[in-house]
Amino acid sequence: MTTSSNSPKGIDMSAYWLPFTPNRYFHQHPKMMQSAKGAYYFDDQGRKLFDGLSGLWCSPLGHADPRIGAAITKQYETMDYCPAFQMASEATFSLAHRVAQMAPKGLDKVFFTNSGSEAVDTALKIAIAYHRVMGNASRTRMIGRDRAYHGVGMGGISVGGMVANRKMFTSLMIPGVDHLPHTLNLSQMAFSKGQPTWGAHLAEELEKIVALHDANTIAAVILEPVQGSTGVIVPPEGYLQKIREICTKHSILLIFDEVITGFGRLGANFGADRFGVVPDMITFAKAITNGVIPLGGVIVRGDIYDSIIANGGQEQAIEFFHGYTYSGHPMPTAAAHAVLDIFESDDLVNRAKALEPVLENSLHALKGKSGILDIRNFGLSGAVDLEPVAGKPGLRAMKVLEACIERGALVRIAGDCVVIGPPFISKPEEVEFLCSVLGDAVDDAMKIHA
Ligand SMILES: Cc1ncc(COP(=O)(O)O)c(C=O)c1O
Repeated sequence: MTTSSNSPKGIDMSAYWLPFTPNRYFHQHPKMMQSAKGAYYFDDQGRKLFDGLSGLWCSPLGHADPRIGAAITKQYETMDYCPAFQMASEATFSLAHRVAQMAPKGLDKVFFTNSGSEAVDTALKIAIAYHRVMGNASRTRMIGRDRAYHGVGMGGISVGGMVANRKMFTSLMIPGVDHLPHTLNLSQMAFSKGQPTWGAHLAEELEKIVALHDANTIAAVILEPVQGSTGVIVPPEGYLQKIREICTKHSILLIFDEVITGFGRLGANFGADRFGVVPDMITFAKAITNGVIPLGGVIVRGDIYDSIIANGGQEQAIEFFHGYTYSGHPMPTAAAHAVLDIFESDDLVNRAKALEPVLENSLHALKGKSGILDIRNFGLSGAVDLEPVAGKPGLRAMKVLEACIERGALVRIAGDCVVIGPPFISKPEEVEFLCSVLGDAVDDAMKIHA
């Protein structure tokens, strides 16, 4: 058991099992945050750290905005919880309406969950239920993509394509899942700015999967418009359009997992808007409440909802046997209303859009540095692939993270990739600072040898 004596800081770390974290390494190199305000965290060493990933992509408004705090406090005093089944509060209906109004036309029903993982599993269930009520019960297969991250539910890891997240759990995977290839190919697109021009043809792989199994067995394709967690893999020009065409042709539902890309990250409400491709469902979470209280959900094409409801049997019968104790919870609902108010009043989507060229220019200015294999960017997000330390995958990026912290910024690492996604409230010079810190941190980390 790890005890406080193992910790350089004398903290008792024996009980907490950190998620998606090398626990042993953390105990030796703890990174303890103490407070957050605006676009900054403050750690236990007294350092002020620019929040280079908006929390975990979830806090685009920065931290401790008093308008969100006031909304939560008011809601707590009015009604802290409302049973999610058989009852609802008006604010939950109006939030669903608001979210639907932000979504592409035709996606006008919203099912609330607590997280992105639950949103994904919910969307997969809706797809299966829809085909079944439409008399197509044979449509059960799902298609995901290599390197995709769709959370950690059983559905999400099955359609996901990040190998480490799957390999220990193969016995739990849902059956009948295929994966499209991912679209990152450094020999064709290294250091592309924005969307790569090469790679739209990779969408044709979907036709091959359809031909292999027959369209009548396939329920849905699920894709992140930009693959975020695996390192900001940007879709080639025309790729998503082609995927949409093939799905439509074969009556396969298209689900966009917009847990990261939803609510402004790409300089539009949703990736669907930015790319001009309308899916049949959108999953969301994270930014909707600015990360203050968990909330996720699925935005669904109206006729999918109508079909499931119409097939629900007698009027007093439940039509869709699915939901969470905290679906539509009044507290995150209040937070989300406040966040969407701020999006409108502070014009945040446009602010994110205006920062995109700043991020693009300052991140690509790192091209040519020793140890940098690729730089990618889209919307207010970017990634840098690093040369690994020989025989020690992930160590280079860990050292970059630590050097960034020393120099005053937080970034996210995934393998030997460093990912950034600053808050929408950032000033241009703060985005430039983040990228220059990252460049210096790469220089520091390149001094490590196996
Ligand atoms: C695209 C995508 N889907 C799903 C998830 C899972 O969300 P959560 O961690 O809220 O379950 C994430 C989390 O990063 C994500 O990026």
